[in-house]
Amino acid sequence: MKFDTPAGQNPIDRLTVIGQPIDRYEAKLKTTGTATYAYEQHAAVPDAAYGYILGAAIAKGRIAAIDTAAAEAAPGVIAVLTHRNAGPLGTGKFYVQRMLAAPEVDHYHQPVALVVADSFEQARAATALIRVRYDRAEGRFDLEARKPGAPIAKPAEYGGPTESLIGDFAGAFDAASIKLDETYTVPDQAHAMMEPHASIARWDGDKLTCWTSIQQMNWGTRDVAAVLGIPRENVRLISPFIGGGFGGKGTAQTELILAAAGARLAKRPVKVALQRPIMFNNTIHRPKTIQRVMLAAEPGGRLTAIGHESWNGNLEGGRTEPCVTSTRTLYAAPNRLTRLHLTTLDLAEGNAMRAPGEAPGLMALEIAMDEMAERLGMDPVAFRLANDTQIEPEKGIPFSTRRFADCLRIGAEKFGWTRRNPKPGAMRDGDWLIGLGMAGAIRGAPISKAGARARLDRQGVVTIETDMTDIGTGSYTIVQQTAAEMMGVPLDKVVAKLGDSSFPETPGSGGQQGGPSVTAGVYAACMKLREVVAQRLGFNNADVTFADGRVHSGGRAVPIEVAARDGELVAEDSMEYGDLSKRYAQQTFGAHFAEIGVDAYTGEVRVRRMVAVCAAGRILNPKTARSQVIGGIVMGIGAALMEEMVVDKRLGFFVNHDLAGYEVPVHADIPQLEAHFIEEVDPTISPLKAKGVGELGLTGVAPAVANAVYNATGVRVREYPITLDKHIGRMARVS
Ligand code: MOS
Repeated sequence: MKFDTPAGQNPIDRLTVIGQPIDRYEAKLKTTGTATYAYEQHAAVPDAAYGYILGAAIAKGRIAAIDTAAAEAAPGVIAVLTHRNAGPLGTGKFYVQRMLAAPEVDHYHQPVALVVADSFEQARAATALIRVRYDRAEGRFDLEARKPGAPIAKPAEYGGPTESLIGDFAGAFDAASIKLDETYTVPDQAHAMMEPHASIARWDGDKLTCWTSIQQMNWGTRDVAAVLGIPRENVRLISPFIGGGFGGKGTAQTELILAAAGARLAKRPVKVALQRPIMFNNTIHRPKTIQRVMLAAEPGGRLTAIGHESWNGNLEGGRTEPCVTSTRTLYAAPNRLTRLHLTTLDLAEGNAMRAPGEAPGLMALEIAMDEMAERLGMDPVAFRLANDTQIEPEKGIPFSTRRFADCLRIGAEKFGWTRRNPKPGAMRDGDWLIGLGMAGAIRGAPISKAGARARLDRQGVVTIETDMTDIGTGSYTIVQQTAAEMMGVPLDKVVAKLGDSSFPETPGSGGQQGGPSVTAGVYAACMKLREVVAQRLGFNNADVTFADGRVHSGGRAVPIEVAARDGELVAEDSMEYGDLSKRYAQQTFGAHFAEIGVDAYTGEVRVRRMVAVCAAGRILNPKTARSQVIGGIVMGIGAALMEEMVVDKRLGFFVNHDLAGYEVPVHADIPQLEAHFIEEVDPTISPLKAKGVGELGLTGVAPAVANAVYNATGVRVREYPITLDKHIGRMARVS
């Protein structure tokens, strides 16, 4: 099916199931511990051996000698995989890191060996017997030191243009009387998802089946095939549940590749879970960025120039963190400059983490906007409203929908923004300095070709098959809702089968495009199934409606299962897109408001409450959407106040590489959070008129918290995370 003109009225608009706060179908399985994740496929693969990865003990250099004899002789050991017996391994297309030191070492904890044994304990114990001698080489680990002279990044495959120049930025900036030129840093951050990377690999002849925790099946099969050098059609991936990914499980990681290579060597299925302490240096992360923001405005608050440059480092061939994406789109100004710089660093690979570019980019831009509002003597909400626009500032095309102003106004209203005193340190509650802050949120609304298969059986059960995954977002549930709405059957008559690469292809869970893409694919498949059903029943397809478990036409109503009386009906289709995304700027918007307390004596920061208002087209399921936004806010609070991987700049690794040292928010850190949605539909996206919210919910959170901290302390911290050491010495004296 082709979607190339804005959607009109269609069966989804009945909203009998779509738009309802349906519980997640798998909620009970997860809360009772009975959902079987990749590592727990005991029934499917009862004979799996255990693999354990040895990570490199240097960051840069090569393996001079490796002695695996003692490990091979250890109890229970079946095989020891190293570069000497793994065969050639290529690299993937999205994550470009090499999966095994061969024998060059590219980064700390890069896999050096995989020990395969009968039990996990045997594999782990034998790994400790491997002796490696390294030739250490000089590495590059310090972004600050590498920043001068870092070249403009090449337009990366997934990042778009790396430079934009509109009008006369330098002239406008020089001429302005009110301006800002500040630099902000966002540190290296880890996805720190609950479920570690985990896979089971089984070979049947030259066919490979892997149970794995992966967000995008299509990238996964492509990359597994490319790395192992086998035909893609020989690779099947199965991923029934994913315990969080945030971009870190976009495609094949080391544990999947080594499980497959290890199983090939051991001639037995192998399961590998990355032990938590090597996840941080072994896999990808959000790379540190240094960001310079330059703003100039007229006294009334209209921006005349917006500039944003960002620097990050990566392994050779790695991508740039596109921090300027939102800056190109969020606020109007005639003169503009954005630029991305990329240098080489010999740390683990930097790559996608929830709202790549937009989340860290707004962490800089939205503090800068707060600072600029203060210089202008304007309220931060009013300043943003003054620079709102319905025309995309760099492309000159209209936004499909842009309810940013409503997010700001409604958010301010719900939060009680008028209580804020713009003078820092002016609000007090006992020993707590109280601060109120806000920030805007924006995230692109991409959508991609996605397919699905729809089956109708004699009991009237509709089964949907698609390779879409569920990373905890509620994909199963919105797929069921879409099929129920389309086929006019109750939700309990719909089965969703996801996470199998042998099913029709989708873009999976990533870039917040999974929800809109897969539901459009299900729409297409159900449209086709409706035709088949109507034909079977001898109805003219044009005047048929599907409702109440029946097919209605010309005064007749027939139970839908009658159509499948002689056997199951099957229909498959995909939704493909025309150029609407080029004619309209398709984005999601939001506003975050935060109230925080700072202990006047210790400088400790506690978030007291937060309010978010989001506009993301039709909300398919307010419960799952709210969950995603709430989760994004929690992650944003972590980014604002806690999260940082600290680089050892001599030896080149992330020092705090476990969940004891890498701090993320826990329940005690999170107060009451509110997430609201603006009622809107975006007919330019798909027949469902819905956009994603999974990444939107994160963008803008951290700067809202940062601006609230400033409002409490009067100390502007431009280096995340805002830990108390950065403001305690400069806070106003306690009276
Ligand atoms: Mo996302 S960072 O596209 O999983």
